[in-house]
Amino acid sequence: MQNFDYQTPTRLIFGEGVISKLPEVMKQFGKKILLTYGGGSIKKLGLYDKVKELLDGFEIFELSGIQPNPKYDPSVLDGVKICKENNIDVILAVGGGSVLDCSKAIAAGALYDGDPWDLISYKAVGKASLPIVDILTLAATGSEYDPGAVISRTETNDKIGYMDNNNYPKVSILDPTYTFTVSKKQTAAGCADAMNHIMEQYFCQDSTLLNDGFCEAGLKSLMVNARKCLENPEDYTARAEMMFDCTLGCNGIYSLGNSYSGWPCHGMEHALSAYYDITHGEGLAIITPRWMKHILNDKTVDRFVKYGVNVFGINADQDHFDIANQAIDATYKFFESINIPMHLRDVGIDESRIGEMAHHVAENEGLENAWVPLTEKDIAEILTDSL
Ligand code: NZQ
Ligand code: ZN
Repeated sequence: MQNFDYQTPTRLIFGEGVISKLPEVMKQFGKKILLTYGGGSIKKLGLYDKVKELLDGFEIFELSGIQPNPKYDPSVLDGVKICKENNIDVILAVGGGSVLDCSKAIAAGALYDGDPWDLISYKAVGKASLPIVDILTLAATGSEYDPGAVISRTETNDKIGYMDNNNYPKVSILDPTYTFTVSKKQTAAGCADAMNHIMEQYFCQDSTLLNDGFCEAGLKSLMVNARKCLENPEDYTARAEMMFDCTLGCNGIYSLGNSYSGWPCHGMEHALSAYYDITHGEGLAIITPRWMKHILNDKTVDRFVKYGVNVFGINADQDHFDIANQAIDATYKFFESINIPMHLRDVGIDESRIGEMAHHVAENEGLENAWVPLTEKDIAEILTDSL
């Protein structure tokens, strides 16, 4: 078991109607709020009006239009400018992972004198960030309970996952009813994203029995509940369970004491969504079974056996490679069954830039240190298999 040093400073307020606590929550951080949101889903939900009504008496500035795969320019830069010019006290992020991530980069950039890209690209380390409160509307990334922010810079095809412990949200308000309106496409993609977060912690060299149990239960819960959410988008219990599965999925709690896996599927997917602006969870679902097939060998097979037997209930009394291959097929079929497009061509990606993307990943994502090390050639092969 590996050493660890763990603290999650985020207060989670979970359940239907918990938004009533918003004024009490915001009061502790100050009067001047930057309200951040995306392309308008929160207005359709009635959440925008609700927030404004509850925060009557606070001074509210706004940054809207934050896109999926949030962009450094203009969103992060605009947000930092508003914070600096108006001495903002606290950021209130209302939306999915993209809004939360963008808000984290803004929170750090607001208290940094130089170019905020220095922080995102690890050229500098932020000393502090503005406090962040969020109201989550999409279950997927776990950004509401982690210090990560994934920011894209279009002109350089960069999509960087940047970690800064100052960026843990102070408070996350999690009301599953706000996810009732999430489309089938985003619900399925959210499920695939959270499943992959768990897999990136499960498929590693050394793990504990406790963590294996957490991860296997998390994967099963996500599959069962995502199906229910797709069948009945207003199934409160399924939306609630899926939301909490996602919240815990990326926080690291499922892998305390495990050795680090290198998060290879995320490393590869970030290039796909940087170059082609695709939906993150769909990219992951496409890559994952191809990566599994690519790394299956004598050394890794038993991990796939455990996964197949405990997550998919595959009969353990068979040849280990047969079990592993059945587990990989079951993974593919699950994603396919929730209508995720399972080929890169289905999401508009052809072979023309695979070499370039593989090079970018090999240069920037450190996958030579992954559980099963991946070279540029391996990455190109996995992406080609995914076509
Ligand atoms: O922009 P609006 O109008 O809000 O619409 C959004 C967006 O179009 C919509 N949506 C959100 N809540 C909704 C809703 N539509 C109807 N009803 C609601 N209640 O859904 C679309 C996608 O939103 P987005 O925030 O992009 O999705 P998600 O939460 O999946 O976030 C994806 C981003 O998070 C990053 C990804 O790379 C991607 O950039 N990730 C962040 C992580 C982290 N911080 O730890 C980890 C992940 O691995 C991931 O990389
Ligand atoms: Zn992810």
